[in-house]
Amino acid sequence: MYELHPYFTNDGSVGLFSPEADDIYHSTYGALAEAYEKFVLPAELEKFFENHSEIKVLDICYGIGYNTKSFLNFLIDKKIINLKKNCSKKLLCKKTNNEAIHTDNFLSLNNNETLHGDNIINIGEVHSDNINQQKNNEKENSCPDNNAAIHSNNISCKNSACEHQNKKIFIKAIDTDEKLFYLSPFFRQGNKKDKRYNKPDFNYEKISKLLTNNFSEKYKLNPEVNLIILKNILEKRPEIFKDPAFLNILKSRKYSPFFDKRIKGLFWALKYEKDIYTPFGQTIAFLHNIYYKYISIRYKKALNSLILDDFIFEPSIEDARISLKHDQYLYNFIFLDAFTPAKCPALWSLEFFKLLFEHLDSDGMILTYSNSAAVRNAMLNAGFFVGKIYNPEIDKFTGTIAVKNKSLLKYELSEYDLGLINSRAGIFYRDENLNLSNEAIIEAHKKEVSESSKISSSAFIKNYKKANSSLK
Ligand SMILES: C[S@@+](CC[C@H](N)C(=O)[O-])C[C@H]1O[C@@H](n2cnc3c(N)ncnc32)[C@H](O)[C@@H]1O
Repeated sequence: MYELHPYFTNDGSVGLFSPEADDIYHSTYGALAEAYEKFVLPAELEKFFENHSEIKVLDICYGIGYNTKSFLNFLIDKKIINLKKNCSKKLLCKKTNNEAIHTDNFLSLNNNETLHGDNIINIGEVHSDNINQQKNNEKENSCPDNNAAIHSNNISCKNSACEHQNKKIFIKAIDTDEKLFYLSPFFRQGNKKDKRYNKPDFNYEKISKLLTNNFSEKYKLNPEVNLIILKNILEKRPEIFKDPAFLNILKSRKYSPFFDKRIKGLFWALKYEKDIYTPFGQTIAFLHNIYYKYISIRYKKALNSLILDDFIFEPSIEDARISLKHDQYLYNFIFLDAFTPAKCPALWSLEFFKLLFEHLDSDGMILTYSNSAAVRNAMLNAGFFVGKIYNPEIDKFTGTIAVKNKSLLKYELSEYDLGLINSRAGIFYRDENLNLSNEAIIEAHKKEVSESSKISSSAFIKNYKKANSSLK
């Protein structure tokens, strides 16, 4: 059975734990804050867009999508891209064509209002007027001209945001975990009360020590971001509607504190649209009625259609090594967010960085949270110039940047960093044909380290400290 191990990190965003990798997906510091500070802010996107009108981003290890979401959120906040709000008051349009879901007519949710989407599975609250209610709503919500509604990119709009020229955005997001991919738009930002759910069923001691009592919400996601991701996943991976493991997780009470009830409600309504003629149609119609009773009526005025022109989101659900072997693009930014090198060396090997070299634009940048000497050495050996990510707020180096154009580096590796790279700590992982298991890579690496005549990292650090203190 597919299981999640969620908890709320210190900024209120949901973090996950992986028992298989025995590793956390997100920093306890804040899943969203980490994405912003280690990936999005160091990319200096405003500067990038001063002389670019399009961007290609590769999100390796998409997980539940914080890096992609923070990236999109940043572009929306800075008005680098503009969401067009469709001026029509249509909600979900009834479609005559049952096969295709044209989610251009999407719902924009009012950020400040709380929806009680749990009601959609609370049979006790169903009232007898649901059927009539549904009919009324259908009338209100039905599109007068189905085609016009479906192709709403063509609808002229009075919103001033529509007058701006959007930048062209392409994001390819890779992860092996299909369920996480599907679940990614459903996660919510918690509030103070949600701390009570921070009692997960895995060995939590190490993590719980790092969790504070109050959330410090440094960044906030616009609700549209999750809607955009959901819309794109539904379009690109319609099989999501039929995936029992995914649907079970979405229905489970255990996980419901971690999901956004509004997005869940919307999903079930869309599923109803799709399933109406299946044998399950009746049950789903039932849920649909409740959806309209408890969700749509209350918010129909706030619901507009979202349009984001010139945005392509390409989910790639496979091993990043395979996905990239068949990829033909050059990327401006590559976010590399695999588990630690010791757990997931397949995505930190020399050969993987050589593959990334082939996919990075000449003025592009790879960003990662890792400060590992072995990772930096692999990047150097793959042909990159390597520097560090600096977070001025905490006055710390918090990750690594690899580029082809050295002038893009703001913080170069120090004498200490280079010394560490030349010690045994700098021995990188090897995966000659990009097809070894993590276990096989770890085994071969262990052997190489144990047979190496290089100075150990601890001896290097000791010598370095001694030499530097005698200089003072
Ligand atoms: C640290 S988590 C990434 C967190 C993610 N960036 C987020 O915002 O939620 C690492 C992810 O790497 C994925 N992964 C592990 N090995 C992979 C591989 N060979 N190819 C692609 N994805 C992989 C896992 O499924 C997991 O989702």
